[in-house]
Amino acid sequence: MHLPIEHPELTVRVVRNAPADAQVVGVPVATDGGVPRVLGLNRKALAQHGFTGARGTTLVVPSSAKATVVAVGVGDAATVTPAVLRDAAAALARAVPGWSHVATSLADVSAYTGVDAHEAAQAVVEGVRLATYRFLALKAETSGAPAIDMLSLMVPATATAAATAGVERGRVVADAVRLARDLANTPPVHLTATRMAEVALQVGTAAGLDVEVWDEHDLAEQRCNGLLNVNRGSVEPPRLVTLRYRPRHARGHVVLVGKGVMYDSGGISLKPSDPMHAMMKMDMSGAAAVLAAVTTLKALGCRSAVTGYLVCTDNMPSGSAYKLGDVITYRNGRTAEIHNTDAEGRLILADALILAEESKPDAIIDIATLTGACMAALGPKMAGVLGNDQGLVDRVLGASQRTDELVWQLPLHRPYRKMLDSQVADLRNIGGPYAGAITAALFLAEFVGDVPWAHLDIAGPMSSDSDDGWLTKGATAFGTRLLIDVVTHFEARRSAR
Ligand code: BES
Ligand code: ZN
Ligand code: MN
Repeated sequence: MHLPIEHPELTVRVVRNAPADAQVVGVPVATDGGVPRVLGLNRKALAQHGFTGARGTTLVVPSSAKATVVAVGVGDAATVTPAVLRDAAAALARAVPGWSHVATSLADVSAYTGVDAHEAAQAVVEGVRLATYRFLALKAETSGAPAIDMLSLMVPATATAAATAGVERGRVVADAVRLARDLANTPPVHLTATRMAEVALQVGTAAGLDVEVWDEHDLAEQRCNGLLNVNRGSVEPPRLVTLRYRPRHARGHVVLVGKGVMYDSGGISLKPSDPMHAMMKMDMSGAAAVLAAVTTLKALGCRSAVTGYLVCTDNMPSGSAYKLGDVITYRNGRTAEIHNTDAEGRLILADALILAEESKPDAIIDIATLTGACMAALGPKMAGVLGNDQGLVDRVLGASQRTDELVWQLPLHRPYRKMLDSQVADLRNIGGPYAGAITAALFLAEFVGDVPWAHLDIAGPMSSDSDDGWLTKGATAFGTRLLIDVVTHFEARRSAR
């Protein structure tokens, strides 16, 4: 299987009126106010067909015109946001399968308050591109795949320049999400730590980044003992990938750390259930999100320096596997006693957090499919965020709002640190039966010193069990858009303080 996967292109044009060759014309309709005349139906007639203009709903309107007209709900006209437009575009993309050229006035911002043309166009391109994502690399029969290859965005002349810029940003961001979904959907036999590092080297270099790969020998030399110990049960060697984005006159430095467990069997604390096992090829979703995010930074003109660490290994049981009672001595001298080999994510993240802390960046953000406890607390649609710096957590929450990747803050409750006390080492790798997402974060907090740090636990939203708006069944690439948003806004928010 070839990685990175090449996806069919989508051509996006910014136009004033519906092109004559458009096969579908999407028409936004709010739950209130007038109904656009092109639909040929009034509100009562629409309602008779079950369409009220609710967010994310569509109605294919029979028409004798050449193009099929689709009414697309945007909800309350006064509260349209980019998130609403992303949902609407995704719904439109799903409404009529089998066409190739769709035109829509969804990005016509003169219809909405509070959304500018750049944001609107970006959101619409993201919605279409993400909803039409498919993982087809391992299928011989690929029929039924959506055929859309041309999108015409209708905007007023005054908004053309802004919309064109938004289209470009939307395309770059959506391509990154596709890359991250591809990586997380790829089976572990096709995507080992070694292969992940090769892909990172290829796409990172192509994106103008400096890429450094540490193999098992480098890792031993650098005393990255978390990664080396978790890797001991595997026949596949580990990798630590560093990707550096260094713009001229950088304003601030952000380090991103991604958990890259290529397959998490649990190790000798073997996971119990089959359905759970089948998800664990996605235990590298954090690393995929970091890799995908950093590949966009040059194209997006990010003003801050960004370093990405991908911490890659699988977690396997075998005669050489790490054991309960083993103690890991970290690069900074800190020791951790193993009480469960399935709590491997925090052990490998610690190596990269130590490296990150040594460079004294302005912020560290890690992203990891870390705990079932976080999924139990927040469900499959939102990530947890915890951190040692409310300002940084607030930046993550702001990015969450802008990207519609939902995040909820959990408390980094310091008194629970004693749940990690060990008889023989500085700390143990699991807490008690409760507050598992918090004790996992408290473990990580031990390795960041006083650098502002935020931790995203994406165990819940790493996958979707159905096609749902701009989400597709399988890997979601959750966090990719959020991380891009945080680091590209970093400088602006920093100087605003
Ligand atoms: N990768 C898992 C967490 C996970 C579970 C992600 C389900 C996505 C879906 C992680 O390595 C793990 O096994 N965590 C354990 C920690 C426990 C042993 C303290 C868990 O959550 O059960
Ligand atoms: Zn794991
Ligand atoms: Mn595990």
